[in-house]
Amino acid sequence: MRTLRIGMVGAGWMGKVHSMSYRTARSAFGPEPAAPVLASIADVSLELAQKGAGEFGYERAVSDWREIIDDKSIEIVDICTPNDMHFDVAMAAIAAGKHVYCEKPLANSVDHARQMARAAERAGVTTLVGFNYIQNPVHALARQALRRGDIGEVIYARLFFNSDFMADRNLQHTWRNDAARAGSGVIGDIGAHCLSYFFYLVEQEIEEVFCNLETVIADHPAPLVSGGFRLDSVGDASRRVKNTTDDIATVIFKFAGGSGHIEASRVSAGIKFEIGYDIVGTQGSLRYSYDRINDICISRHSGPPESWGMTRIEMGPSDPRYAAFLPVSGLGLGYNDYKAIEAREMIAAVGEGRKAMPDFGFGLRVQEVVEACERSHAKRAWVRVGS
Ligand SMILES: NC(=O)c1ccc[n+]([C@@H]2O[C@H](COP(=O)([O-])OP(=O)(O)OC[C@H]3O[C@@H](n4cnc5c(N)ncnc54)[C@H](O)[C@@H]3O)[C@@H](O)[C@H]2O)c1
Repeated sequence: MRTLRIGMVGAGWMGKVHSMSYRTARSAFGPEPAAPVLASIADVSLELAQKGAGEFGYERAVSDWREIIDDKSIEIVDICTPNDMHFDVAMAAIAAGKHVYCEKPLANSVDHARQMARAAERAGVTTLVGFNYIQNPVHALARQALRRGDIGEVIYARLFFNSDFMADRNLQHTWRNDAARAGSGVIGDIGAHCLSYFFYLVEQEIEEVFCNLETVIADHPAPLVSGGFRLDSVGDASRRVKNTTDDIATVIFKFAGGSGHIEASRVSAGIKFEIGYDIVGTQGSLRYSYDRINDICISRHSGPPESWGMTRIEMGPSDPRYAAFLPVSGLGLGYNDYKAIEAREMIAAVGEGRKAMPDFGFGLRVQEVVEACERSHAKRAWVRVGS
């Protein structure tokens, strides 16, 4: 049995989720073509690294991520740091010949994302970006329907990600409120997931965007605890720190066959987690909502018009990734399961010596649209992606 030793960088929320995911993936899918081994975990806070090592089962905890790069036994570097560290860690890992699994957004600029994608391509290493929502097998059904032409040519796409996870003014200031660390605001943070849906499903480029960004919460209490996203981190009420990112993005965009729009908000009070899309074709539509995370709805305009309407399809073991978890349709997978499917994709791709999906090239395409959205907002105008 081949083993792949993992070096985790960042012991916060995603560090925990990725660590659990390797274990779940090993149990759900078995040890072939390779089995992950949790080797080292790094965090700037040695205390958090040590806590993570104890809880998740890493052999070693370190405070400097470079020790992971220097460890020749480690084959996969997993980057779960704030966005500003993705570039440095990924470039060092690639230079050392390691495979890289990196959280989204890929980088804080198109220039960095391009360098990362090119370096990985040149080195021939496997890369994967954490656009976990597209790893839900139900979206493969949607993609198959689109490829078969079940709804005709795509003419319109509506994508949304609304949540209230940052709506509390008393939540402590974090790296997500700091443009220098986060690189972008809501469009790079959660709008990027909407873009991942579009690229995965519609398989076309976004050519032009018009974007408006709003900062609703001007400042947050200074942090009292470091690392690890927590909704109960209320911060120091006596000192507030400026929020240099934004909270709401409204985007309209054009692609070769049509147009679309994206809504992304992390301050929609009372809306806990609303993600989804309508993909509209010339002969029908696909509709997805996180409210029913394992179902896809499809309407096909064929036959007598009075028979047209949405059909709900529940994901089941027809997809081997679902079957790895459950033998029965309708029981359903959740967020941590998609993360385990994502970790499995990384392990299987490295074990089989192939590219993973979505790779750094995919992350670059998302980054190009994120940057175009920010340029559009700054200019108050339509801008072309990539120019
Ligand atoms: N795909 C998703 O659904 C999803 C969800 C949340 C976050 N993310 C992404 O995951 C990444 C991490 O987010 P999070 O919510 O886990 O953040 P977090 O704040 O919970 O954790 C980040 C950790 O990185 C550590 N860290 C900071 N600088 C470091 C450095 N130089 N070396 C080592 N460790 C360092 C921090 O101490 C902290 O423990 C971000 O890129 C974010 O965009 C993705």
